[in-house]
Amino acid sequence: MMSVWVLLLSLLWSLVEVHSQQTFPYISFNGTTLANHSYMDLSLVGNDVTGSSDSVQCHTDLTTCCSKAQGSHRGDWYFPNGPRLLFSEDGYSIYENRTAQIIDLRRRNNPTSPVGIYRCDIPTNAVHDGTDFSVRDAPVYVGLYTASGGDVEISGYTILFEISDLSGPSPRFTLACISTGGPATTVTWTRDSTTITQGTQTVLNDPVTAQYTHTLTVTGTVEGRYGCNVSNNKPSSDLAQLLVSCKPNGIKEGIILTLFCASSIQLPH
Ligand SMILES: *[C@@H]1O[C@H](CO)[C@@H](O)[C@H](O)[C@H]1NC(C)=O
Ligand SMILES: *[C@@H]1O[C@H](CO)[C@@H](O)[C@H](O)[C@H]1NC(C)=O
Ligand SMILES: *[C@@H]1O[C@H](CO)[C@@H](O)[C@H](O)[C@H]1NC(C)=O
Ligand SMILES: *[C@@H]1O[C@H](CO)[C@@H](O)[C@H](O)[C@H]1NC(C)=O
Repeated sequence: MMSVWVLLLSLLWSLVEVHSQQTFPYISFNGTTLANHSYMDLSLVGNDVTGSSDSVQCHTDLTTCCSKAQGSHRGDWYFPNGPRLLFSEDGYSIYENRTAQIIDLRRRNNPTSPVGIYRCDIPTNAVHDGTDFSVRDAPVYVGLYTASGGDVEISGYTILFEISDLSGPSPRFTLACISTGGPATTVTWTRDSTTITQGTQTVLNDPVTAQYTHTLTVTGTVEGRYGCNVSNNKPSSDLAQLLVSCKPNGIKEGIILTLFCASSIQLPH
């Protein structure tokens, strides 16, 4: 009984700890934290230089960032097509300003583009001063769109390489679903309506079109109805389903992927 309580307490403790921990870097708008790869309405972003109520803010825990007054560490925002944002004095409509542990993204003269996935690269306590340029800063992303954009939609479903042992005891293959149009904040894979958390991965392929590839590496089970649900906080979401079957049978609904595996496989449901 005692050990159960100890276990329960330590479990509660770890939940509390995880909950109270802010990971860095993170992005916020008007005091609200935005999850990595969130949607943000570009038309709400402004140029209030006296406050911080309408800038998109990128935060770090490194006290020597981000302007000369703090120390040697800097960091930058990047446009979806690659170049870094310049400063107010350079005259651009979308620009950045570095202050204490924050890099602001601001907007003036009401431009409605470029839209897409913006990146903030900022040094943090955990990631800074790497000898390799690529690990000098930590990245965090936000999708800036007007109200008519930023809706995520699944544009394709495919099976990828490394199909192995389909007829044996440890079958393995990888499914991929492609999303575009808006940031992919949350991706949920399911098989026959059970959520799968193992073997999933998301990669941003193109920040301009917001194309992401979401993969699920399936091990141990082949057949079933696989679902890929991609969503963001605009809110918008899309779901694609794929029936994976071993037998070339006559099911007519939806997309069916038939794999050449032994029909004698025991299905765990
Ligand atoms: C920021 O939040 C305040 C309320 O907390 C609200 O009055 C204000 O309009 C918001 N500003 C923007 C740009 O959303
Ligand atoms: C940029 O931030 C600094 C504070 O570090 C502030 O003094 C300055 O006014 C800001 N510049 C603009 C254009 O907002
Ligand atoms: C945000 O997502 C990217 C992958 O697209 C990842 O590399 C990065 O570490 C994430 N940043 C945070 C702060 O979670
Ligand atoms: C996809 O996920 C989102 C966010 O969790 C949810 O709101 C939506 O209902 C899901 N869509 C389907 C068809 O299950």
